Amino acid sequence: MKVANVSCFAFKFIRLHKRELCRARTVGQCSATTTQFQQDSLPVHPSPFNRCLGHKLHRRYSTESSVKDCRGLIYKKHGDPSQVLQLEPLELPHVGAKSVLVKMLAAPINPSDINMIQGTYAILPDLPAIGGNEGVGQVTEVGSQVTKLKVGDWVISRDAGLGTWRSAAVWKEEDLVTLPSDIPLLAAATLGVNPCTAIRMLSDFEALKPGDSVIQNAANSGVGQAVIQIAAARGLHTINVVRDRPNLQQLTDRLKAMGATHVIKEETLRRPEMKELFKMCPRPRLALNGVGGKSATELLRHLQNGGTMVTYGGMAKQPVTVPVSALIFKDVKIRGFWVTQWKRNYSQDEGAMRAMLDELCSLIRAGKLSAPACAEHSLQDFHKALDAAMQPYTSAKQVLVM
Ligand SMILES: NC(=O)c1ccc[n+]([C@@H]2O[C@H](COP(=O)([O-])OP(=O)(O)OC[C@H]3O[C@@H](n4cnc5c(N)ncnc54)[C@H](OP(=O)(O)O)[C@@H]3O)[C@@H](O)[C@H]2O)c1
Repeated sequence: MKVANVSCFAFKFIRLHKRELCRARTVGQCSATTTQFQQDSLPVHPSPFNRCLGHKLHRRYSTESSVKDCRGLIYKKHGDPSQVLQLEPLELPHVGAKSVLVKMLAAPINPSDINMIQGTYAILPDLPAIGGNEGVGQVTEVGSQVTKLKVGDWVISRDAGLGTWRSAAVWKEEDLVTLPSDIPLLAAATLGVNPCTAIRMLSDFEALKPGDSVIQNAANSGVGQAVIQIAAARGLHTINVVRDRPNLQQLTDRLKAMGATHVIKEETLRRPEMKELFKMCPRPRLALNGVGGKSATELLRHLQNGGTMVTYGGMAKQPVTVPVSALIFKDVKIRGFWVTQWKRNYSQDEGAMRAMLDELCSLIRAGKLSAPACAEHSLQDFHKALDAAMQPYTSAKQVLVM
């Protein structure tokens, strides 16, 4: 039985949510001409360096640099990101009474950013648009009626669609939420999407207790790495499924160092070794599916009776197929999760978002949650960053550092 075809679903949603997304990003719109404006003087933040791959290993992040020459990665039509994105000067609007000027510090490239530029994501902005939906910036100027933000605050966006691949922006206060600036920069830049998705999926679908198990595919993804760490902090076993690759042992060691209980190849899901594995930990009550296709079907086979599989991604671009027996004889629950919808559902509940971010930041400070392995790139190097983001088996999040 075909339960969901991710691409059809995405197509329908494009129509439904386009207007909503556009509303969310209107303040972020800029025309493609340069302008000059006053630079605020700011404290230099101590180097919030986090674990990363790539050549800029010990870069210091300073907020002293000017936001005068604002630039951003703009696309005027949908298509292959490396073809349609251009780095262009941006004209920033004046900072209105309820707006703030933000100097962007770092912004990751996520699969949904790529899909948005390709025109295949569930929500699409009006064109021309600026790429990127996630990232951290620092407030450098506040409007006269701004009450919750001050100069120097680190901020991330509340919703998708602001366009974060840019050096600076003027955004409405209500579109932003603060993060403490004592966490590493790369952790802050990658906190708003994947760790939020991971913590919600581990909290909202099954009442898991220490000693329970969770199984997930795409375990080396940004979401997967956050799941491993948050689950370990909660005393949960994780069975982590990754695609086979030449350096599998290295990846296995890295995920285990993060707290993964078991790391297995996709193929192992169909092998008798699984019986041996379940002598060491209980069958999972929760399965997290970021892939779809056969991989999702195989996860389902190992769920406990009455367990839940949550689909949050469709990297294989294949529908999820649920064996009839899993529904009849195991009564498994098939659910979906979208963090953007969660944030919209709780947009009027300041406490819910704050509590989630505070919990994640506490884990970061306690050394229990870190950013995924990251490779940093300057805005000018965006072609290289995009190419790397679209390659399989990279196991690193590409991050634009402004
Ligand atoms: N629903 C939500 O709220 C939500 C929130 C965040 C993310 N997501 C979705 O979750 C997925 C992962 O996002 P991310 O930012 O964590 O990704 P990421 O860090 O860029 O990693 C991508 C992952 O997908 C795997 N992958 C790619 N193609 C695959 C295929 N054909 N078969 C199996 N695995 C494949 C990669 O494995 P290799 O290393 O083997 O290439 C890697 O583990 C995306 O689909 C994203 O849109 C959804």
